[in-house]
Amino acid sequence: MNNSLLTVKDLSIYLKGQSGFFPLISKISFDIRKAEVFGIVGESGCGKTLTALSIMRILPQNIFSEGEILFNNRDILSLTEEEMRKIRGKDISMIFQEPMTSLNPVLTVGRQIAEALMTHFNLTKRDSLEKAIEILKRVKIPDPELRIKDYPHQLSGGMRQRVMIGMAIACNPSLLIADEPTTALDVTIQFEILKLLQDLRAQSDMAILFISHDLSLIYENADRVGIMYGGRLIELANVDELFDNPIHPYTRGLLASLPTYKGEPLKPILGFVPHPAFLPKGCKFSDRCKEKIEECLYKEPELLEVTKEHFVRCIKC
Ligand SMILES: Nc1ncnc2c1ncn2[C@@H]1O[C@H](COP(=O)(O)OP(=O)(O)O)[C@@H](O)[C@H]1O
Ligand code: SF4
Ligand SMILES: [Mg+2]
Repeated sequence: MNNSLLTVKDLSIYLKGQSGFFPLISKISFDIRKAEVFGIVGESGCGKTLTALSIMRILPQNIFSEGEILFNNRDILSLTEEEMRKIRGKDISMIFQEPMTSLNPVLTVGRQIAEALMTHFNLTKRDSLEKAIEILKRVKIPDPELRIKDYPHQLSGGMRQRVMIGMAIACNPSLLIADEPTTALDVTIQFEILKLLQDLRAQSDMAILFISHDLSLIYENADRVGIMYGGRLIELANVDELFDNPIHPYTRGLLASLPTYKGEPLKPILGFVPHPAFLPKGCKFSDRCKEKIEECLYKEPELLEVTKEHFVRCIKC
């Protein structure tokens, strides 16, 4: 049985420059199954947000994608903008790292939620405002009848993120993309927002694409995970399998850099992710990899299935 909700096949993303096209992401492939939480992890600059934006088809003007993104077996990349508008915000929706940049500062939160409902379900203004109150209750905002009249700046960061989540789930999407949804929040609020996302998922069969730079958040929240580096997927597995049996040297480096309860010193991966223009020629991780051999410097490995449903991109596998 094909259980796939979203299938990304050989997705590449390019920057349009004065001297031609420049690759930012190269041929990534993964699928998200119905009702699962799929995590994408990697350091800043490895291509997580661009992947999400291309699924929503909201890439900046100077960037374009090619490949296939099948959502319920329809290729999103070949839909017209009008067809995409019917899917965006209804079947697929997204929450961003910083809610202030995605909420409209001059509209009340009730109106912003109501607008999504009016657009996609043809509800009257009155009915959609009533539904907006129900949605604020679902995302556990106290006194929702009063809060719908608030403007975003009148709410705390945590409450704004709840409103953002409310807007995103208003139309019961089958896929919610959460791009670093808690990175801008302090730790206690972070925990509450993650708990809210878990509760919402338990109440429906919505799938979540959960993007984070923090592998420990993915461990607690995702079913399967893809690790990205330099615009490529370098390891993909079930979360338990990945933590029990990490194979790629980058994944092992990320795990070794997590804090331990025993208070052992952190072992960060030395160096930083190069800009896509300065990635090494062969394996893109070779300039930071302690295990490289000569072949790594000129040959880029493929992503191969090393054990059932566990894929790795490393010459040594
Ligand atoms: N609008 C843009 N113009 C030029 N380069 C961009 C733009 N957006 C992203 N990039 C580049 O694409 C790469 C991937 O970016 P992004 O997907 O935002 O990474 P992440 O979300 O993993 O931090 C980075 O090197 C970034 O500099
Ligand atoms: S291919 Fe070579 S450089 Fe790349 S991760 Fe594997 S061992 Fe390291
Ligand atoms: Mg990002």
